[in-house]
Amino acid sequence: MENCEKKIKIGLIGLGTVGSGVYKTLKSFKNVEVKKIAVRNLNKPRNIEGLDDSIVTDKPFDVVNDPDIDIVVELIGGLNPAYDLIKTAIENGKHIVTANKELLAKKGEELFTFAEEHNRVVLYEAAIAGGIPIIMPIKTILAGNKITKIEAILNGTTNYILTKMDVQGASYDAVLKEAQELGYAEADPTGDVEGFDAAYKITTLATLAFKKRIKIENVYREGITKIRAQDMHAANDLGYKIKLIASAYLDENDRADVRVHPMLVSKKSTLAHIDYVTNAVSISGHPVGSITLSGPGAGEFPTASSVVGDILAIAAELGTTDYLLPMMRCKHESAAVPVNIADTENKYYLSINAKNNKGVIGKIGKVCEDNNISLASLVQRGVSEDNTAEITVITELCKERDMQNVIAAFEKDDSINKINSLIRVQI
Ligand code: HSE
Repeated sequence: MENCEKKIKIGLIGLGTVGSGVYKTLKSFKNVEVKKIAVRNLNKPRNIEGLDDSIVTDKPFDVVNDPDIDIVVELIGGLNPAYDLIKTAIENGKHIVTANKELLAKKGEELFTFAEEHNRVVLYEAAIAGGIPIIMPIKTILAGNKITKIEAILNGTTNYILTKMDVQGASYDAVLKEAQELGYAEADPTGDVEGFDAAYKITTLATLAFKKRIKIENVYREGITKIRAQDMHAANDLGYKIKLIASAYLDENDRADVRVHPMLVSKKSTLAHIDYVTNAVSISGHPVGSITLSGPGAGEFPTASSVVGDILAIAAELGTTDYLLPMMRCKHESAAVPVNIADTENKYYLSINAKNNKGVIGKIGKVCEDNNISLASLVQRGVSEDNTAEITVITELCKERDMQNVIAAFEKDDSINKINSLIRVQI
């Protein structure tokens, strides 16, 4: 019976970790057939059982120009040539499934508009938090909500590094090296450790959740490279974990504050317990309240799960309607009003190295008071042999601008040697 049905033809661009998982998973579905696969290097040995070499090409435009192909699955990442390939595929009438977070963050608006003009869909469940189903739920079962807050761990590499630093008491450099040796971190880890990957993901996620376009250039970004083992230790003592949090807040005037930076999160919060490569997304909205989804944010089969889900959603409707998946389309045209980080309010963790002079603690309190900042806690455990003291401060809620003024004042103060760290604290 099933063999009589027309099979939906899939063109895969990319046969790396995710592409292999997609190919292997699709083999158990009788209604779809992988017709062509584009790879960068035809000679690379691939351990994929049953792979028919005759469908593999190193010319990706042969995939997007193949008239038999219904759905193009782009899994190569990066802006180019993915952008040209997807646009050509749409012009040629294909629907698109992609895991490309950079492309979506930088060119999403243009691609979604282009797809809509050609009555084609672009689905991207795998681009945000790998195997965690978050895009389709927001578009469908959560559609009745006004979502106003997202706090998420969207990068497995950095979460792995921070977790290892926490459990081993090790330095960032030592853990990064180990993570690279084990293949968890890339040889050039910049995209992950400087927060670019998480920034791409929160840009697209917040755009979808807030129904307002967020521009990547308005997303504040700080990575994890300056986090010290001592910060982990101090945070633990005070009841916190340090995580790289991608967050987005929408206020009542539709102003969107979207950022990626390290954050002290209370050990009582769910995100504090998301460890190693696991990702998690907490969203708050009305009427649902708050929900958190967690799971594998990367990897061959978890990511394939999301890609294949998108493929099957399109395949199920192809040939049955002229307007596929109306709830899965992206149509928000208005842009969010961005909030500059300098205008935000936060709590802060501050680690200060000071001279062992009389009145230093008093001075710290006074500078904060002069800048409208109230302190929630202040810890100094003795004085070192070199006659300096490590002072850890947690503030109450205050303005970022005021905190920057405090830092500037500390930098001019002779009794303060160094601001070791300034990390925002979850509110
Ligand atoms: N490099 C990402 C991470 C996975 O470490 O989570 C792909 O988005």
